[in-house]
Amino acid sequence: MTIYTDLLEHTKTIEKTNLKALFENDPKRFEKFHAEFQDMLLDYSKNKITDETLSLLLKLAKTSHLKEAINDMFSGKRINTTENRPVLHIALRNRSNTPIYVDDEDVMPKINKVLKQMQTFSNKVRAGEFKGATGKEIKDVVNIGIGGSDLGPKMALEALSFYKTPKLNFHFVSNVDGTDITETLNKCNPETTLFIVSSKTFTTQETMTNAQTAKDWISVHLGQKATKHHFVAVSTNIKAVKAFGIDAKNMFVFWDFVGGRYSLWSAIGLSLMIGIGYEGFIQLLEGAHELDLHFKETPFEKNLPVLLALMGIWNTTYLGAESYAVLPYDQYLDKLPLYLQQLDMESNGKSVKKNKKEVDYMTGPILFGTAGTNGQHSFYQLIHQGTHIVPADFIAPIYSLNETGNHHDILLANVIAQSEALMRGKTKEELEAEGVEKDLIPFKTFTGNRPSNTILFEKMTPKALGRLIALYEHKVFVQGVIWNINSFDQFGVELGKQLAKAVLPELLNKKQKLNHDSSTNALIEKVRSLRR
Ligand code: F6P
Repeated sequence: MTIYTDLLEHTKTIEKTNLKALFENDPKRFEKFHAEFQDMLLDYSKNKITDETLSLLLKLAKTSHLKEAINDMFSGKRINTTENRPVLHIALRNRSNTPIYVDDEDVMPKINKVLKQMQTFSNKVRAGEFKGATGKEIKDVVNIGIGGSDLGPKMALEALSFYKTPKLNFHFVSNVDGTDITETLNKCNPETTLFIVSSKTFTTQETMTNAQTAKDWISVHLGQKATKHHFVAVSTNIKAVKAFGIDAKNMFVFWDFVGGRYSLWSAIGLSLMIGIGYEGFIQLLEGAHELDLHFKETPFEKNLPVLLALMGIWNTTYLGAESYAVLPYDQYLDKLPLYLQQLDMESNGKSVKKNKKEVDYMTGPILFGTAGTNGQHSFYQLIHQGTHIVPADFIAPIYSLNETGNHHDILLANVIAQSEALMRGKTKEELEAEGVEKDLIPFKTFTGNRPSNTILFEKMTPKALGRLIALYEHKVFVQGVIWNINSFDQFGVELGKQLAKAVLPELLNKKQKLNHDSSTNALIEKVRSLRR
């Protein structure tokens, strides 16, 4: 028997249990199944687990050599095996500044140097000292990037918009759909607009197409020489940045050891730093660093990312849940689910193990979600009464940054009630006692017994956001280790991109013979025939 088969066997016991009964039989259940770190509380007691489940899951973590894997990541080992790279987003926020070595080089001095460069630059823009080609102050900052070069700063700037300078407007252009850049440019004045071209590779089709359109816009309005006054770049590819016409002194570098979806903490966060200021950005890094130390040093049974990851593994791999909802009850976190979709699904949407064999168990789930009570009036129907079991994370700050009347009490009451409703459900007997019409009872019954976690923290500050994102990053890491997959490559996004490169000339050259399947050929023909 392996721990895997032990856990499979254990599902038979758990399938016979009911969450409501587990709570009724053990008044200490919450005490047993929650963990805290600073002001953050993780309540995982509303998962279908018992003492035995938890001890088996902790054993699973141990036998998966999780401790060693964590140490390998923090010490700069090349754990991204398919790309032969270390994974060091933790170094970007290593506020203790302890040396971290890659090939005998301490990476901290170069990380600190870029942070300093970002500080100087962001201060200048915020103070109106960085001027456009015609000598005017910058008023609009446009980040052009996609995926990890877009979602992190976009999500975080919205999450921290309470702290944002009112003097500047921020825009994020990511989609290659011309509407994205056109609608953004329509809101901006070329003389007072700064573009941050953010791309790790500086070759991404969407980003380079949008950047070129922005460059043409600046050229048309201000002349070709204006580029260097209106563009800065964030990238690992110095050569391509120079070729684009961006001044080397206006380039902010990062390195191969930072994965795109883990790059918010690097110079990719430049727009965020301009928005909330250097101090705010440092607070974000500090929050993440605190969580990093907690993750590295805390025993697994009290370790928030490990526990959150184990609940996910239990629900997905053992109890068969295919999806996973992240439900932040804070309007500022509206884009968190979008951000976590890339973090979680691009990292763990894999089906081949590190040893090249196909997995025969379920890995990363389908993640979705939305902020506040909005979801309660739409997809929560399925979460409460549908045929799918959707484990959910409810996330809420105890205080609102905008305490207004009784709004926040209502919001908190809702988030707490939702997890209770999912857990306890509503029985036929309860409905009868309420005098519900007999014919309607089957439709109004709630099975309950549906799992969720609740994460509470004091209020939305840069530090709190840093902790929260790091919590999810490490959760994803732990799951990747246990599933024995490489969470740090993303070959799954390549094929579509390659095929698009082949289709593009075929759309443009109507005489080119088509050699695809009948559906693809017909779609190309349709576009050819209708598009002049
Ligand atoms: O297509 C996937 C991806 O490589 C992501 O992992 C990455 O965040 C995004 O594209 C953007 O890449 P880049 O920063 O190189 O433009």
